Amino acid sequence: MVSLLAAAVCFWINTLLLCSHALAASLQPQIPSIASFTSAGDSFQLSPNVRIIVDSAHGLEGAPSALSYAQTFRSDLMSVAGFAHVPPVEVLPGGTGFAGAPVIYIAIDPTMQFALYNGEPTLEGYDFEITEYTYTIKVAAAIGAWWGAVTMLQQVALTAVAGGTNISLPTGAGSDSPGWEVRGFMLDAGRHWFDTAFLSELCIYASFFKLNEFHLHASDNLWNPDFLYGTGNEGWKDLYAAFRFQPPPGSPIDGLVPRLNESWPENEFLMFQQTCSEHGVTVIPEIDTPGHSLAITQWKPELMLSGQPDLLNLSYPATIPAIKSIWQQFLPWFTSSEVSIGADEYDASLGDAYVSFVNEMFGFMQAEAGKSIRIWGTNEPSTEIISKNITIQHWDFPDADIPVQLLAAGYNVINSEQAFLYLDGKYSDGGVYPYTLSLDLMFSGAPDGGGWAPNIFSPNDPSNNTSPNELHLRGGIMALWSDWGNNATTMLEDYYQLAQSLAVVGEKTWAGSGMRASELSRAEFEAAYPILNAAAPGQNLNRVVLPEYGDVVYKYPFTYNTLTTPYASVGPPYTLQFSVMPDTHSSNADFLFSGEDSKLYVANLTFEATGQLYPLGYVLPVGTYTDVEIHATADYTYAIINGDEGNPRYWYTVMDIWGEYMEVANMSFAAPAQQIGGEGFVGSVKDVVLTLGV
Ligand SMILES: *[C@@H]1O[C@H](CO)[C@@H](O)[C@H](O)[C@H]1NC(C)=O
Ligand SMILES: *[C@@H]1O[C@H](CO)[C@@H](O)[C@H](O)[C@H]1NC(C)=O
Ligand SMILES: *[C@@H]1O[C@H](CO)[C@@H](O)[C@H](O)[C@H]1NC(C)=O
Ligand SMILES: *[C@@H]1O[C@H](CO)[C@@H](O)[C@H](O)[C@H]1NC(C)=O
Ligand SMILES: *[C@@H]1O[C@H](CO)[C@@H](O)[C@H](O)[C@H]1NC(C)=O
Ligand SMILES: *[C@@H]1O[C@H](CO)[C@@H](O)[C@H](O)[C@H]1NC(C)=O
Ligand SMILES: *[C@@H]1O[C@H](CO)[C@@H](O)[C@H](O)[C@H]1NC(C)=O
Ligand SMILES: *[C@@H]1O[C@H](CO)[C@@H](O)[C@H](O)[C@H]1NC(C)=O
Repeated sequence: MVSLLAAAVCFWINTLLLCSHALAASLQPQIPSIASFTSAGDSFQLSPNVRIIVDSAHGLEGAPSALSYAQTFRSDLMSVAGFAHVPPVEVLPGGTGFAGAPVIYIAIDPTMQFALYNGEPTLEGYDFEITEYTYTIKVAAAIGAWWGAVTMLQQVALTAVAGGTNISLPTGAGSDSPGWEVRGFMLDAGRHWFDTAFLSELCIYASFFKLNEFHLHASDNLWNPDFLYGTGNEGWKDLYAAFRFQPPPGSPIDGLVPRLNESWPENEFLMFQQTCSEHGVTVIPEIDTPGHSLAITQWKPELMLSGQPDLLNLSYPATIPAIKSIWQQFLPWFTSSEVSIGADEYDASLGDAYVSFVNEMFGFMQAEAGKSIRIWGTNEPSTEIISKNITIQHWDFPDADIPVQLLAAGYNVINSEQAFLYLDGKYSDGGVYPYTLSLDLMFSGAPDGGGWAPNIFSPNDPSNNTSPNELHLRGGIMALWSDWGNNATTMLEDYYQLAQSLAVVGEKTWAGSGMRASELSRAEFEAAYPILNAAAPGQNLNRVVLPEYGDVVYKYPFTYNTLTTPYASVGPPYTLQFSVMPDTHSSNADFLFSGEDSKLYVANLTFEATGQLYPLGYVLPVGTYTDVEIHATADYTYAIINGDEGNPRYWYTVMDIWGEYMEVANMSFAAPAQQIGGEGFVGSVKDVVLTLGV
């Protein structure tokens, strides 16, 4: 808790009252909460002259090394503190600051010990000591230095929001370490295309809340019985399915990826994985077989289980070799010590074939790459048993996947229980999943009214929950699925669903619920989150731009055929106003505006994002000017035509829900701010104004 002192200066930011203290009393509540801190009553003044020093004894060890993390920290610190420059990181045997040149010192002592709640050792912990001129982070290994640095970045962000660039932190000493080893999020990148630029930004954002795993579900297909099982038809050939790792040209498996524009070439994937690693996040790739495998059967129909085109026939002699050949192609890309083979929702009458497949894949992955595997919990009755060396990621009751029983049998378990941790892109059939993770459930959804933590699997049955100290309980991973495909969301809309969800999972997988006095209350979480979301460095998923004056991003009062601006994309809320007169020679492929995240075509005022087209259905007359205002929030985008305020026209998507019904929903588009007009556009655009706010 923050205690208020007499000399505090307070500011209203939106509806939050924030105070900066002449004498900072304690650390501000942050996400995730830190285990302990005792204030010494003085203050440490941060300044742009701050020296960042890494212990030369061990600072260059490991990859990433503490030096590498410190370099990332330095640029994040400039962003969060609003400093134009900070001196380069130094590597020295020690460091003490003085007035005018404070020091942040990273000390590495491999004999230091930190433990998870189950008593297992972890390298992710850190101690820290703040004196008047020196902020020391003491760790056993480089990764602890990163999380210790993120703690400081958050404190700076929470302080800077009230006090501008004069940032003073309380002196004192603290200690912190995670309760669980696995703290992650899964994104369904099989049914929806996400490029590596977006995925990289997401990793950097998640790291700010101390999540350490990005589980990347990289192959899947839409599920629609009309296409899959319609009698006599071959609809399965047309149902959207994708495998995202791009085979090199001429590879024997290149038929697996017919749409190269929706796949990750090796260099792009490696850069993304490296970016994650530099931020303490491990990418856990998932290639899902033998279910969810339409991308494979569209490539090799002979591997299909007859009558179930999205399932592989494990008894067909060529099937397992084909799966292994896919892994063999991509295993050299992956730096994680574990991969997920998916292995969910297969035909339950084929349990023996299923279990022997899973065990065979464990042996294969060990022999081929020395990696362990994870599978989703699933119901595959068999007399054979799945190897205890395989981690089971629980998501669903009440099949054979009962976590307390799995743990008792000696399996390592990761909690992804859907009652708490699942989201679906934009829309949830039957409303079973919320739009963002429910703070009610995360803060008070356990059977006893306590909050969620990786040991909580059921909201209403205490017998299905375990001790936080359970030896085999590895942690928790939330999931955002893409059941309605590319149509449903822009990439940024997926971020809007994840933004707060990742923060709450950060708190609950690092600290837990009912384990530490310092855990955040819901009110503390809700107060800190918007500040930290806005300050999160190293990425710009909010697509924030700083206008030169007032709220006006740009204003072009003249008439143009084409014009390039300094802004690639501008996130909602915004208002884009213009007058447009297309010429009779204007083609449907011409765009009026284009940017990093979206395009707007002349024809039907059609937005494009993720290769999908969203027509407004308004046809601009030729030879005369039409006034258009586009208003967007994170929830919707609409147009006002010729000042007709009473008739807002929304851009919609139409989603096919399991082939049962069509669902209409709003779309939020970032402003296509980079270019006005463009190649091919015939006509003129005038009076263009882009303003922040809706
Ligand atoms: C910064 O804040 C501290 C503590 O509130 C104050 O003592 C100091 O004078 C301020 N410095 C500047 C340059 O404003
Ligand atoms: C699976 O493959 C085996 C071996 O070729 C074949 O005998 C069997 O009929 C196939 N099963 C189905 C359901 O396709
Ligand atoms: C599997 O687990 C057992 C003990 O649970 C262990 O002795 C063995 O080394 C493990 N095998 C592999 C390949 O990891
Ligand atoms: C709890 O576990 C039992 C089996 O032990 C299962 O039948 C039941 O559905 C579970 N309860 C909940 C709420 O998931
Ligand atoms: C990739 O290309 C296909 C075929 O041209 C197209 O339908 C799809 O929209 C493109 N995807 C993206 C993300 O642009
Ligand atoms: C505009 O939309 C209408 C119906 O929404 C459609 O019939 C027409 O083909 C579209 N025109 C263009 C140029 O896309
Ligand atoms: C995508 O949208 C179109 C209409 O624009 C619709 O016909 C189609 O079924 C949708 N696809 C999915 C997978 O929802
Ligand atoms: C779109 O958003 C507007 C404004 O919130 C709302 O009135 C409308 O019902 C939404 N449309 C759909 C299809 O959800």
